[in-house]
Amino acid sequence: MKLIRIENLSFRYRRAKEYAIKDINLDIKKGEFLGILGASGSGKSTLCLTLNGVIPNSIRGDFVGNVYVKEYNTRETPPSKLSTIVGLILQNPDSQLFNMTVEEEIAFGLENLGLERDEIQRRINWALKITGLQGLESEFPPNLSGGQKQRLAIASILAMKPEIIVLDEPTAQLDPMGKEQVLSLITLLNKEQGITIVLVEHNAEYMLSFADRVIVMDKGRIILKGRPSEVFEEVELLKELGIRLPASIRIGAELKKRGILKKAALTEKELIRTLRSQF
Ligand SMILES: Nc1ncnc2c1ncn2[C@@H]1O[C@H](COP(=O)(O)OP(=O)(O)O)[C@@H](O)[C@H]1O
Ligand SMILES: [Mg+2]
Repeated sequence: MKLIRIENLSFRYRRAKEYAIKDINLDIKKGEFLGILGASGSGKSTLCLTLNGVIPNSIRGDFVGNVYVKEYNTRETPPSKLSTIVGLILQNPDSQLFNMTVEEEIAFGLENLGLERDEIQRRINWALKITGLQGLESEFPPNLSGGQKQRLAIASILAMKPEIIVLDEPTAQLDPMGKEQVLSLITLLNKEQGITIVLVEHNAEYMLSFADRVIVMDKGRIILKGRPSEVFEEVELLKELGIRLPASIRIGAELKKRGILKKAALTEKELIRTLRSQF
């Protein structure tokens, strides 16, 4: 089932000369994990903002084409309605947290939905459990670690029970442990909770392991689309586009060039396993 349908979408910010995204066509299926790759300025964030209607409803400009979230055309649907279906997580967790305690932070959006007290508490406990924040209910959010803050931002969105969560470089500002925590949480949300995920993330090895499909953007267009095991075979093109590749794929590509391996798109584990079995 299609959850999001993007048809011939282009968007130009006010006063910008160029379109930030150009002629995008893309369907996102329920339960899917879609990865977005691309160099800085290629239009990844702009595309994310069209998925929950922030573009064109709050950020205006020249908007051509249509985005449907379930049966709703985002041009004609208030962002407050769309935000119950599509949750958005940004790079900087500090910009998304503004309550005095962890628990209040999660409760905040729920109170605005007009839910019963019991239901609010049930959802808070559920979100705390999934995100591994139990025991931190009374903490002051600014005192949390980067990884905990980002998990809290995710918990607040999760408690609203969206069908799809869009995360725009959620690990970019985190230390290695925070990155690891947030990426494991995203995997869990998709594989165990069945939540549709759209993730902008530079960690190609993670995408290769967990994304169902990836798109690669360049200058506002989607230039590659497919299973990560297919897309990450295009090593030369990805390098030209300035996309960082893990050592395993770079080594895999060299060995493939020399006829030693058949595939370049390997995680570290797969590369080691393949080499062990061959030599
Ligand atoms: N608010 C804005 N106003 C004008 N231009 C913008 C704005 N945000 C982004 N852009 C431009 O749109 C293009 C795509 O940006 P963006 O979607 O942020 O790319 P990415 O997330 O891949 O780095 C860039 O050329 C950028 O300068
Ligand atoms: Mg961006």
